[in-house]
Amino acid sequence: MPQVTTVIGDALATERDAVLLGVFEDDGRWTGTLAKTDKALNGQLRKLREWGEVKGKLGEVTVVHSLGLLPPRRLVLFGLGKSSELDAEAVRRAVGNAVKTLNQIGVRHAALVPPETNRLTLPDLARAITEATLLASYRYSKKSSDDGKPSLERLELIATSRRSASEMGTGVQLGTVMAEATNFARDLVNAPPMELTPTTLAEQAKAVAEKRGLDCEIYDERWIEEVGMGALRAVSLGSDQPPRFIVLRYEGKAGAPTIGLVGKGITFDSGGLCLKTAEGMLEMKGDMAGAAAVIAAMDAIAQLQPAINVLGCVPATENMPGGRAFKPGDILRTYSGKTVEVINTDAEGRLILADAISYAKEKGASPILDAATLTGAAIIALGPICTGAFGNDEQLVREIVEVGKQVGEPIWAMPMFADYRELLKSDFADIKNTGGRPGGAITAAWFIGEFVGETPWVHLDIAPTFWSDKDRHYFSKGATGVATRTFIQFVLNRAKG
Ligand code: BES
Ligand code: MN
Ligand code: ZN
Repeated sequence: MPQVTTVIGDALATERDAVLLGVFEDDGRWTGTLAKTDKALNGQLRKLREWGEVKGKLGEVTVVHSLGLLPPRRLVLFGLGKSSELDAEAVRRAVGNAVKTLNQIGVRHAALVPPETNRLTLPDLARAITEATLLASYRYSKKSSDDGKPSLERLELIATSRRSASEMGTGVQLGTVMAEATNFARDLVNAPPMELTPTTLAEQAKAVAEKRGLDCEIYDERWIEEVGMGALRAVSLGSDQPPRFIVLRYEGKAGAPTIGLVGKGITFDSGGLCLKTAEGMLEMKGDMAGAAAVIAAMDAIAQLQPAINVLGCVPATENMPGGRAFKPGDILRTYSGKTVEVINTDAEGRLILADAISYAKEKGASPILDAATLTGAAIIALGPICTGAFGNDEQLVREIVEVGKQVGEPIWAMPMFADYRELLKSDFADIKNTGGRPGGAITAAWFIGEFVGETPWVHLDIAPTFWSDKDRHYFSKGATGVATRTFIQFVLNRAKG
């Protein structure tokens, strides 16, 4: 992975593989480094603009060779879009595209001149650039002949003074932690299900805890049965892989509230006896993306040391159709004491979340946030663009939507009218585990809500966003690590008060 640092100096005076310069769509005046570069290249950059090759459109990347006229070998012009619309996400997308180009053409050492703008503070600007650089350099590849490793080793952000260097440094540090956590979550989600089982997921959590000094408990199948987590146990029965209940605890301030983070940890979802199709199973190694976000967020939180407490809970199991598998018609006793009639064994995520949320409540966590690749219905409702947010506290849902905006993880609030709850009425138990196809994401959320009670809670259905079908801006095909940055930022914001 590249390292992002700040240096004071003149970007054009040092020999490097490339210097990155931002170009706005609506600002052709070109001052500062852009003007100096143009002058050194005998006005060739301006020509590119006149000819329409450089427009400054968001995401545009143009590589210009300096052909010995300047110490840097290349100038990489990257489009930032309209200066009046610049925000952190635009910076991430612009720099993400530019960094992908650097990695394609084998650039190892580059410098970037931060664009002049009053729409972002210097730390926020540096943070966005750093996040984009690390996220866009991410690869998950197990190809035996892998030439796809990122070439970029160092990106230096050019500062003009000690003061601006130190302000940018703050942003670089935070951006590095944010992006590394997101990439860690992506690694967990991209890992093959044969490697990433409930047992190895728990080992990963334990390793994070040991590295960062977090409290960690890994509970096994005996404990799960003994304490009465009947829903988690039931889902695990069809698999030869034993389940785990993973607890990570961060204590940043005695007496402060404890935020609960809960993540769905289905390390493979075959659907159980209500078996999915082959196509439906393809991305189901990623049915632990919520768990990955929780574990990765705890890793980051432990580094950032906010003055607040956080409890991370991950129920982890496979959902398989083995001979002992739970069945439609089964009635489960959950950790809360409430009973559930199983209608469909493929609606397993809400079952394991029920037990985990009851546990988080018992430990005094409030508010509780959960992330889960919960429903295909959320994908149908929202497409691949945003995460769905559901909850029992409108203020908290609004807060989460704002946090999502802040970190570039779009979230949309979904309706929770009480009448949806009726669809989960069971003749044989307190509740049934599916409410039919219409409004499937909402009834799934209501199911979880049944176990949350009065505790302020938001459920993030990340089924739409946990996976990217193609390369786009700072993402590559595969896991996105979604919810990791939302979780971290929520905790940081709450700690600041
Ligand atoms: N893990 C799936 C949901 C999912 C589907 C996530 C596609 C990501 C991509 C979940 O366990 C599931 O199977 N949900 C069912 C619920 C239904 C049986 C009520 C679904 O959405 O079809
Ligand atoms: Mn399922
Ligand atoms: Zn699932």
